[in-house]
Amino acid sequence: MPLIKNKHPKVTLVGAGPGDPKLITLKGIEALQEADVVLYDALVNIELLNYASNAELIFVGKRKGNHSYTQDEINQLIVDKAFEFGNLVRLKGGDSFIFGRGSEEIQFVDSFGIETEVIPGISSATSVPVRQGISLTQRGVSESFWVITGTTTARKLSKDFELAAQSTATLVVLMGMAQLAEMVAIFEKLGKAETPIAIIQNGFMPDEKVGIGRMNTILEIVAKKQLSNPAIIVIGEVVQHSTKLHSIFQEVEEFYK
Ligand SMILES: C[S@@+](CC[C@H](N)C(=O)[O-])C[C@H]1O[C@@H](n2cnc3c(N)ncnc32)[C@H](O)[C@@H]1O
Repeated sequence: MPLIKNKHPKVTLVGAGPGDPKLITLKGIEALQEADVVLYDALVNIELLNYASNAELIFVGKRKGNHSYTQDEINQLIVDKAFEFGNLVRLKGGDSFIFGRGSEEIQFVDSFGIETEVIPGISSATSVPVRQGISLTQRGVSESFWVITGTTTARKLSKDFELAAQSTATLVVLMGMAQLAEMVAIFEKLGKAETPIAIIQNGFMPDEKVGIGRMNTILEIVAKKQLSNPAIIVIGEVVQHSTKLHSIFQEVEEFYK
C-alpha cells in the first residue's frame, strides 16, 4: 500500500533516447526539471539526471551486483512513489514503448486512477543504425523495415524473424546477440547466406563497437571483436550502402574472398 496519500500523483514516462544525453526531447528535459522523484533504468545516460536536481533518484535497472527489481515490483514502486512524492518521472532508454514495457507500466498506473503522460524518445532501433550511416529504408534498395525482438518472454527468437527473413525488408533485431547463430541458420536455410549484416554495440557511447560482414561470416567477426549486448543487429542490403561503413565493408570482403 502507498505510504502517504496527501500529494497529487502524476506519472510521466520519458524516453531518454539511445545513450547520447543530447538525444532526449525538450519535453523530456522539462519533465525531469519538474520531477519530485525519478525511477531510471540501466540504459539511461546518467548525465540526464542532472536535469532532475530537485528529485529523489531511484535506480531500478539491472546491473551486476545490484538487486534487480521484477517488473511487478517496479510497477508497484511507481505507484507508491507517485503517491509519496507527487510528480514521478519514469525514465527509460530509447523509446519506452519499443520493447520497453512502458505500456504495461502505464496500464498499471492508470488502474489506480493516477494521471499519466507519455513522452516519446528516440529509439535505439532507428537511431543506432543512422549513426553508422545505415538508412533502414532506401529508394531502390529497401522498401520497409521490421523491428524484431531476439528475446521474447519465452527467451526465444521471435517467430516473426523467419517471416521477415523471407522478405526483402531490412531486419533490425534488439536483444538478439544470444540468438545470432539461429538467425544465421535461418538465412542459410533460405539460401541468403550472403546477406549483409551490421552489429552495433553500445551505440552513441564512448565504448561503441561495430562489426560488419555477411550472414556467413558474422559469427567469426563477432567472436574476433568480442561483440555482445546491448547491440543493434541490422540485416539487409542497406548495410553495404552506408558510405560511413563502406571502407570497413570492403576490407571484410577482401579478407573473406
Ligand atoms: C529492453 S530493449 C529497450 C529498447 C529501448 N526501449 C529503445 O527504444 O531503444 C534493450 C535493447 O535495446 C538495444 N539498445 C538499446 N540502446 C542501445 C544502444 N545504445 N546501442 C545498441 N543497442 C541498444 C539493445 O538491443 C538492447 O538489448
